[in-house]
Amino acid sequence: MEQRRRLVTAIPGPRSQELMARKKAAVAFGVGTTMPVFAAGAGGGVVVDVDGNHLIDLGSGIAVTSVGASDPRVVAAVTEQVRAFTHTCFMVTPYEGYVAVAEALNRLTPGTHDKRTALFNSGAEAVENAVKIARLATGRPAVAVFDHAYHGRTNLTMAMTAKSMPYKHGFGPFAPEVYRAPLSYPYRDGGLSGADAAARAIDQLDKQVGAANLAALVIEPIQGEGGFITPAPGFLAALADWCRKHGVVFIADEVQTGFARTGAWFASEHENVVPDLIVTAKGIAGGLPLSAVTGRAEIMDAAHTGGLGGTYGGNPLACAAALAAIETIEQDGLIARAGRIGELLTARLSALRDGDPRIGDIRGRGAMIAVELVEPDSGRPDAALAKAVAAAAHRRGVIVLTCGTYGNVLRFLPPLTISDDLLHDALDVLGEALAG
Ligand SMILES: Cc1ncc(COP(=O)(O)O)c(C=O)c1O
Repeated sequence: MEQRRRLVTAIPGPRSQELMARKKAAVAFGVGTTMPVFAAGAGGGVVVDVDGNHLIDLGSGIAVTSVGASDPRVVAAVTEQVRAFTHTCFMVTPYEGYVAVAEALNRLTPGTHDKRTALFNSGAEAVENAVKIARLATGRPAVAVFDHAYHGRTNLTMAMTAKSMPYKHGFGPFAPEVYRAPLSYPYRDGGLSGADAAARAIDQLDKQVGAANLAALVIEPIQGEGGFITPAPGFLAALADWCRKHGVVFIADEVQTGFARTGAWFASEHENVVPDLIVTAKGIAGGLPLSAVTGRAEIMDAAHTGGLGGTYGGNPLACAAALAAIETIEQDGLIARAGRIGELLTARLSALRDGDPRIGDIRGRGAMIAVELVEPDSGRPDAALAKAVAAAAHRRGVIVLTCGTYGNVLRFLPPLTISDDLLHDALDVLGEALAG
């Protein structure tokens, strides 16, 4: 697939417009799309649409295709597996791929303690299961989450997610026993240190919930949908210490940050934090649906036989893809590549910020970088600007996503297989979009 941006029609082209009309007539209105174009192919750092336009991919299908959307090793592994068998259900007739993925996750996740893994389909499903396990292991009901958190769209994870519109609006009532604590948000909390921000959160949880009632504290080491908010150094470690002291299960939701995305296998590593349980999905399987909960054997094994599972959890095709994706990350040095992508993005975005006070903050790690756009005088979030810049980039053939509680954050999550040339071209487009 040609690795360059090339537009042969206006965006959207005629074929995409036809398909969008069919989508409108056939697909539920609640299922939105970022881009007005339909995909025909994808790979490296490019998505090709049905009109033949080559778009630069700065989204990876929301942080999924870290190894690219058509990595040959993933394709070969899935092809071989699909020929052998598509499904038996691991709970009926188990197969080696599931066990091999569990072994890989036990090896790769932080900490050298004895671990176990259970596989599921989506990030939300894995988050729910992590909470189920923590509740059973502790015999406690409550779950602590944070401001701006995103954990999914199922009933429990909607309760855990912070933002109402669009994720929760009108979909309640929500699951009980979920309590929200203040986050460390260096750009907007006056530069509170990690230790002070953690003390503030702990104080609130102590007073309003009580550690003795808490089964788990669930946190994204870098928030995804909430705006790529990167807590001040020490925040995560102080929370993990408090959890350890009080028998609260510390759960890292690494659904978006995991699998090399931030320039480490897992973002917890940047802060030397060893979670009790770690939840993974997205980048785990080169684009196939798979998720996991991995953690301390004594916590994971608290659940009775038959208590965990699901028809498709750890589907053989997804497991084959995961093993190939993990091998690709290791063989191709994609962790280091994520770090270099982060340096390039940060340098180019910093140059843009020098002449543009509307870029309030640049944050994130590795290939998970964002800019927060603000009204320069007040510092208020400027969601309209983020929307306009993203739309202008889309028209010029760059797939870029927005996020943030206030919708004013542009986030960059390219496949780790993207070339520097494509990144520079995309950043040129972004500069033009901001100037326009
Ligand atoms: C941190 C985090 N947790 C959970 C989820 C939910 O994952 P899924 O959409 O696979 O259910 C997401 C998805 O964006 C996420 O970013």
